[in-house]
Amino acid sequence: MTTLLERFRGLVHQAVKEAKHESESEAHQIFRDAAGHKPKGLLPQTINPDEETVPGIEHPGSTGVIYCSDRAMANGFTYANAHEWANLGQGAPEVGDIPFAAPRPTSVQFPIDANEYAPTTGVKELREAVANLYNVEYRQGKASQYTYENVCIVPGGRAGLSRVAAVIGSVYTSYQIPDYTAYDQMLSAFKKLVPVPTALDAENQYRLDIKQLRSDIQKQGLQVVLASNPRNPTGQVVRGKELQELVDLGRETSTTLILDEFYSWYIYPNTDAEYGNTVSSAEYIDDVNKDSVIIVNGLTKNWRLPGWRICWVVGPKNLISALSQSGSFLDGGASHPLQIASIPLLRPEYVHSERMALQKHFKAKRDHVLKRLSELGLTVSVPPEATFYIWLNLEGLPPPLNNGLTFFEELLKEKCIVVPGIFFDINPSHRRNLFSSPCHHFIRISFGPPIESLDKGVDAIARVLDRAHKDGMRAFGHGYKPTETDASEHAKHA
Ligand SMILES: Cc1ncc(COP(=O)(O)O)c(C=O)c1O
Repeated sequence: MTTLLERFRGLVHQAVKEAKHESESEAHQIFRDAAGHKPKGLLPQTINPDEETVPGIEHPGSTGVIYCSDRAMANGFTYANAHEWANLGQGAPEVGDIPFAAPRPTSVQFPIDANEYAPTTGVKELREAVANLYNVEYRQGKASQYTYENVCIVPGGRAGLSRVAAVIGSVYTSYQIPDYTAYDQMLSAFKKLVPVPTALDAENQYRLDIKQLRSDIQKQGLQVVLASNPRNPTGQVVRGKELQELVDLGRETSTTLILDEFYSWYIYPNTDAEYGNTVSSAEYIDDVNKDSVIIVNGLTKNWRLPGWRICWVVGPKNLISALSQSGSFLDGGASHPLQIASIPLLRPEYVHSERMALQKHFKAKRDHVLKRLSELGLTVSVPPEATFYIWLNLEGLPPPLNNGLTFFEELLKEKCIVVPGIFFDINPSHRRNLFSSPCHHFIRISFGPPIESLDKGVDAIARVLDRAHKDGMRAFGHGYKPTETDASEHAKHA
């Protein structure tokens, strides 16, 4: 197998002079031109008069998805021709039939009363079904069991996280980089809490260092910690003894843990006996009403039903009543008919067979993409053990292809979408020089889509590398189309 270094050895001397600053890169200038992406001054942030033209309205900055779909549209992507494209930027799993899984729902039945509003905490039977699933899966034999009063149904994961963020007081709230892109905007939208980002180290495989966290809690006075586990975009997971230590740390230091467990089924076992295993902090909680652990999950990823917008927050009773209050002004609750249709999907036997099928199918897709990338010389230094994302370091390529934003633009020319790594950085638009971001050299590749799309996407990557090999690097880094400003056609995916 050829390594990147061997493949591009002869080319390095032909490489264009490596840019050191974003001002020398066309891809980065296009990023800066997007609404909300101009560098901001010191806090309090000054409003840029060229950008903020509606009195009092300030752009929060686009999440990766919006930016990527705007750029794809500038390159000719439309929903009508989407099948010609490989969307490996997609933060959603494929939603069609997969081998050994139940057929996909295509209609719902509900009683006439379901045309009414549902309670802001959700339909009681669904809350009971969620509590029961957690008790069966993670709390057998434990004295303290979840009841419906520990569950709040929410219209999607982001709505659930926003309901939680809205009830966090004026406290230091820690989150780590890289993590799910929406945390950044979400945490800054709720002005009471003070977000405290911490960078995870590539050398440490992006693991959450629990010793370091204990010290930060004690020294910096952190009171709330937010993390996705399994983690988007790195595909790493805290589990077993380590997860136990994290839950214990929360208890011992009176720190609230918000664990976003959306990818809890996307765990890839090394042996057949491990198929079906999943991860949740619910397994390590002592008293469900005293341990301040807040779990967010739902049908979006594990059940492969992102369009349903049926998700939940599980936590102490006292949290659920606060979420009922924030939900009543933020979102008004999840769809009543779809809550009713979700109840049978929470049956433990159904869940068990679905996730066996899911793990087999997604593990095969992960292995396939990793193999194909490595045949191209793109070896993934920290391969995902969970989620459906690959965090790929492009540092070994000659410039300018070695930065995520330029590689992303070149892939768009080949009808393939990925997410540039800088979207997983600490509020990237506030950086003075995007080139100094720790996520500068990365892209996130999703293996959520069906295998044919994945192959189409890797073929596009291969074409970019072939072009580099044949024509040298001068053809790259320029000629990018400007972004249209029509915001109405924005992406459907998270
Ligand atoms: C870690 C994480 N949490 C939550 C969500 C969003 O869930 P939803 O689409 O239900 O709002 C995503 C989607 O990408 C995610 O990656």
